[in-house]
Amino acid sequence: MFGAFYCQHHSFMSNTVLIGAQWGDEGKGKVVDVLTEDADLVIRMQGGNNAGHTVWVGKKKYVLHLIPSGILHPNKVCVIGNGVVMDPVHLVHELDGLKKLRIKVNKRLYISENAHLVMPYHRELDALRETSRGKGKIGTTKRGIGPTYMDKASRQGIRLGDLMQPDRFAKLLKDRLRVNNAILKANGVKPLSYQRILEDYLQAAKRLKPFVTNTLPLIHDAMGSGKRMLFEGAQGTFLDIDHGTYPYVTSSSTTAGGACTGSGVPPNRVSRVVGVMKAYTTRVGEGPFPTEDDGLGDLFHGMGREFGATTGRARRCGWLDMVMIRHASMVNGFDDLSVTNLDGLDGLDEIKVCVAYRFKGKRLEYMPASHETLEACQPIYESFAGWKRDTSSAQSWKELPLKARAYLKALSQMAGCRLSSVSVGPDRSQIIHLS
Ligand code: GDP
Ligand code: IMO
Ligand code: MG
Repeated sequence: MFGAFYCQHHSFMSNTVLIGAQWGDEGKGKVVDVLTEDADLVIRMQGGNNAGHTVWVGKKKYVLHLIPSGILHPNKVCVIGNGVVMDPVHLVHELDGLKKLRIKVNKRLYISENAHLVMPYHRELDALRETSRGKGKIGTTKRGIGPTYMDKASRQGIRLGDLMQPDRFAKLLKDRLRVNNAILKANGVKPLSYQRILEDYLQAAKRLKPFVTNTLPLIHDAMGSGKRMLFEGAQGTFLDIDHGTYPYVTSSSTTAGGACTGSGVPPNRVSRVVGVMKAYTTRVGEGPFPTEDDGLGDLFHGMGREFGATTGRARRCGWLDMVMIRHASMVNGFDDLSVTNLDGLDGLDEIKVCVAYRFKGKRLEYMPASHETLEACQPIYESFAGWKRDTSSAQSWKELPLKARAYLKALSQMAGCRLSSVSVGPDRSQIIHLS
C-alpha cells in the first residue's frame, strides 16, 4: 500500500509536458531530444504530420513528423497517443527513413488504436477549402489535418483500430468514400479510387500492426512503476484551436491541457510544464503577426535558416513578442522556459522586444481575443544592445556575452518564468542547462 503510494508520488513528480510557446517550430524536437535523457517514455498527444521536428545528432539530420523525437535515443519507449491524427502511409515512410538511419523501433514504439486516420479525401478537402478561401486562406500544410479532426468531432472518423480489421475498414471506407467523393465531384475534383486506397491502407496496416495497441494501460502501468513521461507537444500555443489566433490555427489542442486528453494521463499526474520559445518569433502560414519584420526575415533566410521542416516554406520572421509569451505562460502554466536559437541574434546591433501593444491609442498588456484586433495592434518595443559575438560554442552561462545574459534575464523576468536552458545551435551538444 505504502509502496504503491510511493510509486505514484514518484511518477507524479517527474512527468513533463513540453509545449511550443509561439507559432510552432520553436525547436521542440531539439529540446525533446535533450530532455529524453531524463525520461523513460516520450509521448506525442496531438497534431499529425503537419509537425516537423528537427534533430541534429552530429552530422546527421532527422526530421520527425509523427514519431516522437525521443526515438533517437536507444531503449526509450515512444508512444503516439489517442489525440494524434495519423496518415498510416506517411508513418510507414517515416519508419523506412528511420530504418535507413539504423534506428531500431521494435518493442519501443506504440501507437494508440484510437488515433484517427488521415484519409486521402481529407487531404483533398484540405486543399479544396484553402482554394475556396481565396485571400482568406489559412496557409495549411495540406496534410488533411483540419478535415480529419472535423470527422473526428462529427463522429465520422476512422480509427487505427478499425484499420486493423480489414473487413471492417473496407466497409467504413466504402461508406465514407461515397460521401466524400460526392463532395469532391461537386467541386470539380476527380473522385478517389476505393480499390487503390484499400490496397495502400491495408498494406500500411500490415507494417503497423506490431505497434498498434491500447496505449492507456501501457502508459498507466509505466507510470505506476515510476517511469518518467515526457510529452512532446506539436505546433505551438498560438496555433491552438481554442487559444490561438483563430481562425489562423491548426485543429488540435496544442496547449498543455491537450497532453491529458491526447494521452489519457490525468492533469494531477503532470508535474512540470516547459515552454519552448525562440529568442525571436517565426510563423509559417497566414494570420496576424504584430512583430513581423521583413528585414529580419531576409537576414535569417540569407543565413539559410528559417525554412519549414515539413513544407520547405520560408518562415515569416519577427522580433520576440513578450505579450504572447506571457499569454502562453498563463494558458499552459509554464514552470520554466527553454530558449532556443539565441545564436540567430548574434550579429545584430540592436535587438527589439515587444512588451505591450498599442491599439487605437491605448496600451494593451494582454493579447486581444479577435484576430482583427490583433492585426491592428502596433507593437511597443523595448530595445536591447546586441552582443555581436558568436554564441554557438558557449557551454555555460558564464561563456555567454554579458549582453546576451542581460537579454535572457530580462525576458525571463518579463515572462515571470525561470529559464531552464538556452540553446545556441541545432546540435544536441549546443545547449546550456541552467539550474
Ligand atoms: P520544432 O517544430 O519546434 O521541433 O522546430 P523545427 O525543427 O521545425 O525548427 C527549428 C529549427 O531550428 C530546426 O532547423 C532546428 O535544427 C533548429 N534549431 C533548434 N535549436 C536551435 C538553436 O539553438 N540554434 C540554431 N541555429 N538552430 C536551432
Ligand atoms: P511543428 O510541430 C509551424 C501551421 C500551418 C498553418 C496552420 C494550419 O513543427 O511546430 P494545418 O496543416 O495544421 O491545418 O495548418 O498551422 N502549422 C505549423 N506551423 N509548425 C508546425 O508544427 C505547424 N503545424 C501546422 O502552417 O498556418
Ligand atoms: Mg517544426
